[in-house]
Amino acid sequence: MLSDHPLASFWSLDPDTTYLNHGSFGPSPLPVQQARAAWSTRLERQPMRFFCQEMEAELDSAAAVLAGFLKTQPERLALIDNATVAMNVVAASIDLKPGDEILINDHEYGAVKNIWQARCRESGARLVTATLPFPPTAADIVTALESAITPKTRLIVVSHVTSATACILPIKAICQMAQSHGIPVCVDGPHAIAMLDVNLNDLGCDYYCASGHKWLCGPFGSGFLWVHPRHHSSIRCPVISWGGSIAGRPATWKDRTNWLGTRDPAPLLAMADAVRFFTPERLQQYRQHAHALVSHARRALLDRPGVGTFCTPDQSDFVSMAAVELPQPPGWKPGYHGSPDPLQIELRDMHKIEIPVGAWNGHRFLRVSAHLYTTPTDIERLLAAL
Ligand SMILES: Cc1ncc(COP(=O)(O)O)c(C=O)c1O
Repeated sequence: MLSDHPLASFWSLDPDTTYLNHGSFGPSPLPVQQARAAWSTRLERQPMRFFCQEMEAELDSAAAVLAGFLKTQPERLALIDNATVAMNVVAASIDLKPGDEILINDHEYGAVKNIWQARCRESGARLVTATLPFPPTAADIVTALESAITPKTRLIVVSHVTSATACILPIKAICQMAQSHGIPVCVDGPHAIAMLDVNLNDLGCDYYCASGHKWLCGPFGSGFLWVHPRHHSSIRCPVISWGGSIAGRPATWKDRTNWLGTRDPAPLLAMADAVRFFTPERLQQYRQHAHALVSHARRALLDRPGVGTFCTPDQSDFVSMAAVELPQPPGWKPGYHGSPDPLQIELRDMHKIEIPVGAWNGHRFLRVSAHLYTTPTDIERLLAAL
């Protein structure tokens, strides 16, 4: 039986909007918003003390809370604005020669492709895109990536949960396969944090980039970069600043990203409050509540003429976000990022429903997200509008 969740009242979403796009921009519950505001207030009261004496220790404390959640050591985790910045740090840290190859796949996020395309262009390396089976199955995904490896492959970049296609990839198996070839793996993981149990030490990857504002409901402008200790000394930040400890502490690799010029670290520090908000019980409640709503929406959509399953053919293939394939109207052309499908605009402007309708590899899709604040009425509104 679908019902509203009592924790929905913790969110401050506009009651006039039906918000079904947590997967792109995930709002925070009030305790996290308040914690972020409190950090900014503390900074404004005594900036010298905060920046020069307190900030590094506070970043360490927040990293320790996040590290506990992700089953790793805080020394491996640098808090950083978002997954995009983290990925840029990894791209700046990998030595590439002309002819070297970076291996991605056709489900990777557009901005991530851009980062590696730019890095390959400047170094003379080549960006190789493996085509994953569609719809993907775990063993076939590993095989597809393995067959694209050559003696020149220097790094595999792969999403933990893909963006457009909302597909959970078998990261541990991919890392095991990559390790057998001696190739490091960089995981693009913003959607996996809180959606899945992530044990960073156990995954077997070399780098893990994530944003806090997705399923963890951390503040906008919060994220992290996890780096295996074997790569700490080679981490370089594309934003060059002082590069040392501002409080005069012994140097660590995180000094290269902790101080990126003067900025408000409140979102980074309040990420710890998002972790505290999600007690193990609440985490389970979010996953169950969101899965029930997304499953209901997906099933109802699949009953409509021309709508088909996309990359998640089974109920167990997704948690709180799933995409379905939509029919293509005559003359339909894949849009670009920033020029959404007319259906997305119509749902937004005529029905006040925020939900992404996009194009991927010649397919037209609609992606539904739900979180603790999503109600059965939200889903009914979507179904009625469609
Ligand atoms: C798979 C994936 N990677 C990276 C990003 C970039 O995240 P951010 O904009 O928070 O840096 C996103 C954002 O939607 C994403 O879905």
